[in-house]
Amino acid sequence: MFTMIGQHATGAGHWSAWSMLKLLLLTSFPTLSLTAPPSVSHPIASSEPESMKSLAALKTMAPKYRFTAVPGYFKMEGRGPRNEVPTMPGMGLIDQPYPTDEAFDPQRSKQPWERFVNLLNSWNESEKGKAAYKLIYVTRHGQGYHNAKESDVGSAEWETRWVMLNGDDNSTWFDSHLTLEGIRQAMTMNAFWQDAATTLKLPLPRRYYASPLARCLETCKLSFEGIELPPGQEKPPFKPIIKELLRERLHFHTCDRRRNGTWIRENFPEFEFEEGFVDEDVYWKTEGRETLQEHAARTMALLEDVFEHEDEQIISFSTHSGTIAALIKATRHEDFFVEPGNVVPFLIKGEIIQPN
Ligand SMILES: *[C@@H]1O[C@H](CO)[C@@H](O)[C@H](O)[C@H]1NC(C)=O
Ligand SMILES: *[C@@H]1O[C@H](CO)[C@@H](O)[C@H](O)[C@H]1NC(C)=O
Ligand SMILES: *[C@@H]1O[C@H](CO)[C@@H](O)[C@H](O)[C@H]1NC(C)=O
Repeated sequence: MFTMIGQHATGAGHWSAWSMLKLLLLTSFPTLSLTAPPSVSHPIASSEPESMKSLAALKTMAPKYRFTAVPGYFKMEGRGPRNEVPTMPGMGLIDQPYPTDEAFDPQRSKQPWERFVNLLNSWNESEKGKAAYKLIYVTRHGQGYHNAKESDVGSAEWETRWVMLNGDDNSTWFDSHLTLEGIRQAMTMNAFWQDAATTLKLPLPRRYYASPLARCLETCKLSFEGIELPPGQEKPPFKPIIKELLRERLHFHTCDRRRNGTWIRENFPEFEFEEGFVDEDVYWKTEGRETLQEHAARTMALLEDVFEHEDEQIISFSTHSGTIAALIKATRHEDFFVEPGNVVPFLIKGEIIQPN
């Protein structure tokens, strides 16, 4: 299955490291197969795709919350033409005094992250019934075979010639797996969490949510599993929940078509499915494309769901660049772009506009 590992592996000299990674992947995902489903005939879609029906249903739901990104707590140092934001040291938390410090930390001996978590808890208490706050660590999956192919041929050729195919002679990008570079990126994030949780008391997510696409399941697993906290610190259980609404912008690219729930269950037994998860991928479309506006609307539906049903305040999303763009729009966050294999914080306020 790794017939082309040399091609996209950076640091091609480190063959022993790559062999180790390969072994790790094979032992982590023993039944991974790159067998693609029957090839897609194009275009079909004579009737309205299911995705459109369910999206329409989502839009008619009366929202309970108004979501906004809360500025002033995290620094994001973007670079380049797309304002590309990397994983920031300490997640970019700005070290500043909070009004809640005096009671919580009179000696000024606690770490910034401890004081911030205390502040977050206090908001939850003081605004009960009016607003809820969540800190969401949003991870973009590591490099997948589709990303590698697009980098190889350029975006224009990728869009016109390759996106509708399941793969080529060298790799498969239908429901893309991570490349070895993508695995390396996910493991780098794992090291980031391990270090930051230990040295900065940066809280691990209390709940993990992932897109059902293979590259996000792999990234979620590799970036969070196996982190060891010092004795006495409680470690959240690793039981991620798969959420359909976290998947990439719906369009005809085969890389964004997912495998069925049966396959996911067999290959990722530690993951749970959200209620109502449909085994078959009924959402993928053979033509057309969800607009950013539509994607932002379903991302608001995702936030409604999470704010309504999730008690934890610090959670994670393992997702895609398109979904991150939708989240930015849905929360009116300052615009930025995340390269594969990086994680950024979203501090989101859900103001209750329609109490139960
Ligand atoms: C597959 O890889 C080989 C060797 O790198 C290359 O010559 C060939 O052009 C590649 N095929 C495609 C379809 O990219
Ligand atoms: C699910 O997908 C696998 C291949 O990935 C296939 O073998 C199996 O028949 C499918 N199961 C269902 C219930 O469609
Ligand atoms: C808010 O705080 C209450 C009381 O500590 C807790 O039960 C609840 O789960 C918290 N809500 C969130 C969203 O964290």
